[in-house]
Amino acid sequence: MDEKHRNIHNQAVEPTDLKSDKNLERLKKKTSADFAKYFEQTYMPPNLKEARRRRKNTTQYVDDFGIPEDIQNIGAGRKFLIRTYGCQMNEHDTEVMAGIFEELGYEATEHEEEADVILLNTCAIRENAENKVFGEIGHLKPLKQEKPDLIVGVCGCMAQEEAVVNRILQKHQHVDLIFGTHNIHRLPQLLKEAMFSKEMVMEVWSKEGDVIENLPKARKGNIRAWVNIMYGCDKFCTYCIVPYTRGKERSRQPAEVIHEVRDLARRGYKEITLLGQNVNAYGKDLEGNPYRLSHLMDEIRKIDIPRVRFTTSHPWDFTDDLIEVLAKGGNLVEHIHLPVQSGNNAILKIMGRNYTRESYLELFHKLKKAIPHASFTTDIIVGYPNETEEQFQETLSLVEECEFDGAYTFIYSPRPGTPAARMEDNVSMDVKKERLQRLNTVVNHFMAESNQKMLDEVVDVLVEGVSKKNDEVLSGHTRTNKVVNFKGPKSLIGKLVQVRITGAKTWSLDGELLKEVEAMVQ
Ligand code: 5AD
Ligand code: SF4
Repeated sequence: MDEKHRNIHNQAVEPTDLKSDKNLERLKKKTSADFAKYFEQTYMPPNLKEARRRRKNTTQYVDDFGIPEDIQNIGAGRKFLIRTYGCQMNEHDTEVMAGIFEELGYEATEHEEEADVILLNTCAIRENAENKVFGEIGHLKPLKQEKPDLIVGVCGCMAQEEAVVNRILQKHQHVDLIFGTHNIHRLPQLLKEAMFSKEMVMEVWSKEGDVIENLPKARKGNIRAWVNIMYGCDKFCTYCIVPYTRGKERSRQPAEVIHEVRDLARRGYKEITLLGQNVNAYGKDLEGNPYRLSHLMDEIRKIDIPRVRFTTSHPWDFTDDLIEVLAKGGNLVEHIHLPVQSGNNAILKIMGRNYTRESYLELFHKLKKAIPHASFTTDIIVGYPNETEEQFQETLSLVEECEFDGAYTFIYSPRPGTPAARMEDNVSMDVKKERLQRLNTVVNHFMAESNQKMLDEVVDVLVEGVSKKNDEVLSGHTRTNKVVNFKGPKSLIGKLVQVRITGAKTWSLDGELLKEVEAMVQ
């Protein structure tokens, strides 16, 4: 496998990027005769142009992940800490990296002062996510000075961005290790290099790698689990950095997904969430195979696990087949997250979303009719370049028509390298902030109203733990993904219970425990 990866290394290097780099000059001076070898192993920078290319080559499925003999047990007596930023995909990547650390003999810690390795698993979706990470990198500097053997690493989506990496190289030389989203399985080798090298170790493949099937996972908790069904995104919405940082769409083989879900069911997990940047495109890249998300969900429906969720959906590929399967219910719960982004056709068009307000609403109502008690949530961006007040009002009116149960709302954030970032923008930040506030007021109104409508209803709740505010109160989610708090014994954690809703707030519901329910999977 190493030979093959070395080739990919070479493809990813663009000499023009490197000439201007000061850190490279520094490395050159320090290395000498075996510079080429050293370079190949330790300096693999990201390249957004390379990341944008979509190649025809098919995905290789690899299941030979293993830890080379000379690296085994390098973590014995050592501790690791991973800080995770961003989406569920990152949360799950962290579980994989934690699994690798544990296979290497490392122990997890929550305390920075105890850690021998600190990794920041980063998010690039908006500028404020990146600023948080830069704050944390700066904050780790004194610790690194105190403990020179500490390895400080940056991975995740920000590591795929040239501008970010250059900034780290120039201003944060206490960072020891940078690796990208396609290099996670190389963590053992990279850690070893970082331990023994005096220089910063960097390996960021811009071209997406294989689908690696047998990576270890140290899952957080034993009630709910993430299951990746696909990686990457080919939609290239004009504002979004994800297709660059996560590569082209690659579906896992159906049999692998089913096997993982069965295994989780056997181990007593109560809920799984099928994960992908755009799960509705599942299977489109499986050459010669008509198997899609609808087929996958129909098979998973028959597995004895009480709850199955999926995220994130794009209206583009939401087929009638899939709606039909979701309507069968059983363990497929009644919650649809369907990002709309804007309610105005001109904005949707420049966003490259490939649907109109009308076709979104048609799909929305079709889903509502097919799955009558479903809850709906969405993502919305305000203040897209040159968005007018009238255009924004169309977003408000769409929210009013859909009466969403919740929405993640964002101010547009230009992402370097994306088409939207090159657009001139005549909307001031003050106006964007004011629109966000107005939108949130409408979103919160419908959220509270949909909660009010649940008063006196009896619902199934999966008890996930104690409430954050009061450890005498249990907390969990309904099938429709609403948070319910109620009093009950801790022995119910991990169980499905029936609760009567007694109070409704904007963000959560209060209830009284009726009884434990046996999970019925149809
Ligand atoms: N600015 C603001 N919000 C963004 N999102 C994605 N890219 C950007 C950006 N550049 C939002 C979208 C997406 C969610 C995950 O993040 O609403 O659905
Ligand atoms: Fe980004 Fe659009 Fe892909 Fe979602 S579908 S990850 S918003 S490019």
